[in-house]
Amino acid sequence: MQPGFQEKPTIRLLRHGEAVPYGLLLLADPSREMIDSYLPLSETRVALLGDRPVGVYVLMPLGKEAAEIKNIAVDPMHQGKGLGKLLLADATEAAKKSGFKTLAIGTANTSVGQLCLYQKQGFELDSINKGFYLRHYPAPLFENGMQCKHLLMLVKQL
Ligand code: COA
Repeated sequence: MQPGFQEKPTIRLLRHGEAVPYGLLLLADPSREMIDSYLPLSETRVALLGDRPVGVYVLMPLGKEAAEIKNIAVDPMHQGKGLGKLLLADATEAAKKSGFKTLAIGTANTSVGQLCLYQKQGFELDSINKGFYLRHYPAPLFENGMQCKHLLMLVKQL
């Protein structure tokens, strides 16, 4: 753990009936409609400081062999302290335990920090879904001074 966390966050499954941390999920995916489409098909894990959610990821099976992290986010107050890496490591272990052989994660052509993080954590560029953000989001999205157009899929062998 890098400096910044006095107490290490605990990561656990979001329990049935617990509040969904939409504030965090919307940091990674601006469409509530998209989020609500994959949440029921997935397992959601939260990182807690005390009982406050400070991080989240959503793991969705793509079949028997493959799973995808559909959403991962850390509270802006706690970004850059290593929690994103912890969440990716936790997702990798959870996917392995469930018997999946590969773990995928998608990000935009504009998400340069995320692309660095995912590759440092063992994900490799696998495919490009050209025009994904133009087709699936009604309003144009911008990040780092560029328009989000394409979805880059990265895959890690487990
Ligand atoms: N160039 C090089 N490396 C970069 C980088 C850049 N531009 N931006 C980030 N990184 C690297 C850091 O160097 C660090 O790796 P290191 O410790 O080996 O140096 C790593 O990425 C960041 O790690 P960490 O502190 O664990 O990440 P985090 O807790 O900030 O969480 C996100 C990362 C993406 C989950 C978080 O920033 C977030 O919630 N962002 C908003 C939501 C989002 O974009 N989600 C992903 C959608 S695809």
